[in-house]
Formats: sequence, structure tokens, C-alpha cells
Amino acid sequence: MTDAPAKVRAEAETLRARLNYHNYRYYVLDDPEISDAEYDAMLRRLEALESKYPEIVTLDSPTQRVGAAPSGKFAPVRHRRPMMSLSNAMNADEMIEFDKRLKRLLKNEEEVEYVAEVKLDGLGIELVYEHGTLAIASTRGDGETGEDVTANIKTIKSVPLRLLDPAQGKLPRLLEVRGEVIFPKRAFAKLNAEREARGEPVFANPRNAAAGSLRQLDPKVTASRPLEVFLYAPGVIEGARYDSQWEFLHGIRALGLRTNPESKLCHGVGEVLEYWSALTEKRHSLAYDADGVVAKVNSFALQEQLGEVSRAPRWAIAYKFKAQQTETVIEDIEVQVGRIGSLTPVAKLRPVALAGVTISNASLHNLDEIRRKDIRVGDTVLIERAGDVIPYVVRVTKPASPRAREFVMPAKCPECGAAVVHEEGEAGYFCVNANCPARMRESIRHFASKGCLDIEGLGDKLVAQLVEAGLVHELDDIFHLTKAQLAGLERMADKSAQNVLDAISAARKTTLERVINGLGIRHVGEHTARQLALRFKSLEALSAASEEELRAVRDIGPEVAHSVREYFDEPRNLRAVRRLEKLLEIEPVAEPSGRGALRDKTFVLTGTLESMSRDEAERRIIAMGGRTTGSVSRKTDFVVAGADAGSKLKRARELGIRVLDEREFSNLLNER
Ligand code: IVH
Repeated sequence: MTDAPAKVRAEAETLRARLNYHNYRYYVLDDPEISDAEYDAMLRRLEALESKYPEIVTLDSPTQRVGAAPSGKFAPVRHRRPMMSLSNAMNADEMIEFDKRLKRLLKNEEEVEYVAEVKLDGLGIELVYEHGTLAIASTRGDGETGEDVTANIKTIKSVPLRLLDPAQGKLPRLLEVRGEVIFPKRAFAKLNAEREARGEPVFANPRNAAAGSLRQLDPKVTASRPLEVFLYAPGVIEGARYDSQWEFLHGIRALGLRTNPESKLCHGVGEVLEYWSALTEKRHSLAYDADGVVAKVNSFALQEQLGEVSRAPRWAIAYKFKAQQTETVIEDIEVQVGRIGSLTPVAKLRPVALAGVTISNASLHNLDEIRRKDIRVGDTVLIERAGDVIPYVVRVTKPASPRAREFVMPAKCPECGAAVVHEEGEAGYFCVNANCPARMRESIRHFASKGCLDIEGLGDKLVAQLVEAGLVHELDDIFHLTKAQLAGLERMADKSAQNVLDAISAARKTTLERVINGLGIRHVGEHTARQLALRFKSLEALSAASEEELRAVRDIGPEVAHSVREYFDEPRNLRAVRRLEKLLEIEPVAEPSGRGALRDKTFVLTGTLESMSRDEAERRIIAMGGRTTGSVSRKTDFVVAGADAGSKLKRARELGIRVLDEREFSNLLNER
């Protein structure tokens, strides 16, 4: 190997420092000094030098943002100092109460100085800089232990891989900073639109999108998502000193770390309340989701004096924004037909702005709900965005006068005119026509969706076009589509037609659980499909199973058993399944290892896990020989309680069942 000449080393070092500085101008100060083209030219020059002399590459080089190979899993990282949570104030009175308590504790009549900050609705993280270089980035996890997400965090451009050194050679030996990874609202809308077009499940909110993007095993996927960070709290710091939160925020910003420009130094709680009111007005114009204000005592000495109670500092509080509600008028109630033929009433609303978007629809779920709330066309209703996302009708605030008649479910399917059936005592109404175009459309959408055959490119719009054009009537019809047929559709170029065909062809190789889930059997979702696949191991055996045999399968009750049997008793379904068996290449079903610590153990998952999705948790339990169920009983071995666990956790405590927090659960999964 040739040794890089000193001149090359020096040039590379200069390029790195300049790139780092311009990155800071762009991402932290939002005030670039050079053009993108100039930046790219420097980056390319550095890449060229590094590829010629690989020995000069440093870990914190700007070329190393997407360097790491996909990891098998995220290693646990223990936080040197626990990452605490915040207590909440529900209204201004509670804020005033909080301020009074502090004055009492501090034996001080004077106004307390606070830093008021935006409460960001993202994912808590910790960055550890050793001698100015990013060494480890981890998620908050349960506050004690998080997960090592260094490779993914490095792909976020607003995270410096190396700190700036404004005081020349005075970088702290150790700097731990905490903050939030966020997914900007606009990019979120775009990502969801793309996912929807591809028939992939959409993220419920930017927070979930941020969590999902950060928890990718392949850093390339994370790099493709426009994540951002804001840093707002210190961890352990050695070799630098800050006396207050305000000083800390300015200090880390000078080191190149991104801080939120909305933060404000407030004298007394009155100014915090004003800040809250101003931010309430402004929140929709922020580029990211915020769910309230955090007020922190400014002085670190006073913070220390106040201390903490049960993992929450006494010196800080979160004052959440009020739920997003507004009134509007129900202009009509329409009925939508789902894939199993279920009819769902949907309120058509007089369009109204709420939480920054225009709302014109809200699901009314079912007839019982409409009756219970006595919702009628013409009524003025209060609507709310639950968790700031899905609009929901809270109640009627002003009944129309004169009042419209009660809403009734149509006797005929609004899409195909076939009869609608309703079973006494059940909430649902169903279209009986298996050929109903609405049902077909929804069935095929479901079949192609992510948890099923996962056919990229076969999104909602295309499926609707295919059904409308009479090109698909049955699930297996999609495998017989030709390029000419696809290219004949509106807005379909030859190239896209070929891409769709390729995706369909690639989807033939699949797993039994995906196919079973994809059939769209009533009451059979991902979890049940997995159990059925494990037990029967082929479509043939499943379709021949009696109700008794089905009922003997884990977690399958009489209702599910009946609906599976009913599905295969329908000759048309059975014929389609037989054809699918021939067309698909179904992988043999892998047995769960059964060796692990979880053999035959029953788990109930409740609350939100920070470090993995519920689906992933379930898969991992099953892969280790365990099982999961939905409700807590004496037969439950473990209840895994994530954040905001509710009644199931309570029930577990009543029954004396072992409760695992997220950290204990991850330990259990990792001990094999
Ligand atoms: S300070 C000791 N500041 O809220 C104080 N947290 O409930 C704890 N959060 O997990 C953190 N914005 O993820 C702080 N400006 C802010 C914040 C913030 C959002 C989150 C954070 C934490 C949770 C605490």
C-alpha cells in the first residue's frame, strides 16, 4: 500500500473542516455561504482523495454518513445518566401551581427564570461526542438503556460527525447531548402519499415515521428519509462548563449542534404562559409537529437543588397544547364498501380547517355509534383530530332545525345494488355480492398490500383502474395481466407497465402467512394468518380443515374458525385458491426454534414500545417458540408494558402476572 503524502493528508483535513463548517451553515444556521454545487465539488474532491488513499479516511469524515452495512439488530446502550421524563400541566392554573411550588421549595419570593422550549413530538435520542467526534448515538429506550442507532443517526445531515472548535483546541473531552429526531410535516405528507400509491401502509403521524425511519436495519433506508434533529438537554459533560440551560443551548450551538430557534428565556411563569399562547397560534406554521411547551428552570444550580421525583425532574414541566377541536356541519352521510363487503358510514363535512389541514370527511364507524351520538345530516358537530391525525366526531353541538330523519343503512349496496345483510346483535352491515366492484377493489388492494403479497407499484389508483376496466375479477387475475393491457390504461407508460409486471412477477415468491392474510378472510389478520400457516403448512391442508380442527389452533375461537370454514366452503373462493397455489411459489413454513427462553410462554403486549413495532415484537416472540395473545388471563406468562400501558397492565398486576418493561423484554429476546 502506498502511504499518502503529507500534502494529501493536509488537503483532506482542510476539505473535511471546510465541509463540516458549510454543513453547519446550511443545516444548523440555515444560512449557507456557498452554493450546493461548490459544496458538492469539495465533497467529490475529498471522496477522490479518500478512495485513492483509503488509509486517510476518518470515521468522522463527511463522506462517512452512509457507510455502514445493514446491521442484524441494535445493540443495547446504557445511558450514563438516565434520560428522564416530564410531568405535565393540563392548564394555566397548574402551571401557576408549579411555579408556586418551586418558589416554596427554593424559599424564594422572586420570579424564577425559565427557558421555554417547544415540546417536539419526535423520538428522544442521545448523542455522545468524545473529543469532538460523534462516538455513539442511541435512542432513549426506557430511559436507562436505549439502542445503538449510530449508523442511522450519522445519515442525518443536521447531526455533525465532528464538532466545530470555535475556541481552538478547547473541545470538551466528553459531551453527551440529548434531543429529538423529528420528521418534518411536509416530507411526512409526501412520504405517505408515495407509500399509499405503492399500496404500502401509511404512517399514522410524523412521530411514527421518525421512529420507523430511525429503526431501520439498513442505514441506506434511513438516509433516504429526511430526518432532522434538535438538541435540548445535557447528559454527562467533561471538559466544558455551562451554568444554565440558556448558556448550554448557546454553547452547543456554537459547537455546531442544532438547537431550536423558538426557545425563549422567560422571567417568571407569566412569560411562559404568554409563550405558550403565542406558540399555540403558531404551531401549525412550524415545519414539524409540536405537542406543547416545556418550561425548564434556567439555572443548573437551582435545578440541582430541586432534584427529581420518580424519574421526572422537579424543575421542568410540559404544558401540552389543547386538543384540536372545531365545529362544522354534516352535509351528508355516505356509505363506503370494504373488502369483506362491510358498509361503513362516512360523514361528509362542510370543509373546515383544523390543525393546519382542511377536513371534509370523518368516519362514523358504524350505525350503533351514529345512534348513540344521534348524529344526523344537517347537524352541527364538534370534531377533533385524535392524536392530531384522524378526524373524529365527538358529539352533536347544535341539532339541525327542523331535524333530519335518522340515518338508516341502505338496503342495497351503494356500489352494486346487491342486497345488504345485517346479523341481529352485530354492528356490521354487509353487501352479499362477492362480485361487487367495491369489494373486488378492496380485496385486491389488500392482497397486494405490504403485509400480504407486497406488490410494489400496484397501488390504490391502479387497482381501481384495473377493476373498472374489467381486467381483474379474482385475486389470481393480476398474475395474468399483459403489458398491452396495462399500457392501455390511462396515464400508464410502457416503462411503468413493465415495472408493474416485474413487481407482480417478483411477488409470486412468497410465504404462506402472507398468502393466507392476503385472501381477506373475515377475522383473519396477520397474527391469525401466522398461526394458521404454522399449524397447516399449506393452503391445501388449510382449506380442508374442519371447524373443530381450526378451533384447536392457538388463539382461534369459534367465530374465526367458522369464518375460515365459510370462506373455503364458497366454491368460487376455493377455485381461486387452487389457482393461486399453482401460480405462487410458497416457501416451506419454518418451524419456530422452540429452543429459546420463550418456549411455550404466553405474552401479552400492551402500550407502545419505543424500540420496535408491535408486529416485530410478536414475530420475535414466535420465532423463539413463544406465543402472543390479546388479553391478560391467568394463563398469561408475561405482560410486556410499553409506554402508556393501560388496563391490561392493571389487570396483570391484579392477577400477579410478571410484567416486563421494555428493557427487560429486550434482554429476554437477546438472551439465547
Ligand atoms: S427535556 C429532563 N425538552 O419529551 C427533561 N424534552 O416527556 C427531559 N421532549 O423523552 C427532556 N421536546 O423526548 C425536553 N424541548 C424538550 C423536549 C423534550 C420533546 C420529549 C423528550 C422526552 C419527553 C419527556
